[in-house]
Amino acid sequence: MQSVTLGVMSMTTAETAPGRDVVDLLLEQHDEIKSLFGQVQQAQGPVKQELFQDLVRLLVVHESAEEAVVHPVARRKLETGEQVVGQRLEEEDRAKKELADLYDMGVDHPDFDRRLEAFQAEVVQHATKEEGDEFLRLRGTVEADTLRRMVGALEAAEAAAPTRPHPNAPESAVGNVLTGPPMALFDRVRDAVRDWRQQHPGD
Ligand SMILES: [Fe+2]
Ligand SMILES: [Fe+2]
Repeated sequence: MQSVTLGVMSMTTAETAPGRDVVDLLLEQHDEIKSLFGQVQQAQGPVKQELFQDLVRLLVVHESAEEAVVHPVARRKLETGEQVVGQRLEEEDRAKKELADLYDMGVDHPDFDRRLEAFQAEVVQHATKEEGDEFLRLRGTVEADTLRRMVGALEAAEAAAPTRPHPNAPESAVGNVLTGPPMALFDRVRDAVRDWRQQHPGD
């Protein structure tokens, strides 16, 4: 990690913001996910499709890093970690299926908004439990250096899931090409995070 002493922090500068750890980034992503749900709900047509693709991408990046790197550490290090993580993994499995169903359904389907709203409620509840029962407790249990190094897992996940061009991506087809079905993206990002973990066996 570089030792740059800038106090300014931004989403993509985890490497240059030495104070940030994986918990900071996970909490930030939870906020982004909640914001994107609201944006998808309010959008129409191609913009709605593109925002939904953004949501798919962020959920895949976030959950893949949690599953491959964050939950295993929590399982090992936290008291009752086995139980806490087991519940979260069940919720994540259900969420993946629902995300795939929403993707197959498409944003123009008459039931899409209702299903998205129900999905949003489940994701927000899941995130709240993660924050209270898992992430914030990690800070009291896992060394600060380790939590900072774990930022690399999120960066590996981000790098494996390209973003669509902003701000004038004209058609939803662009997003489809880049993102594709959620399950295929999950596989790709999971592989990237596992590669990262193998290269950082102590984290
Ligand atoms: Fe999660
Ligand atoms: Fe999460």
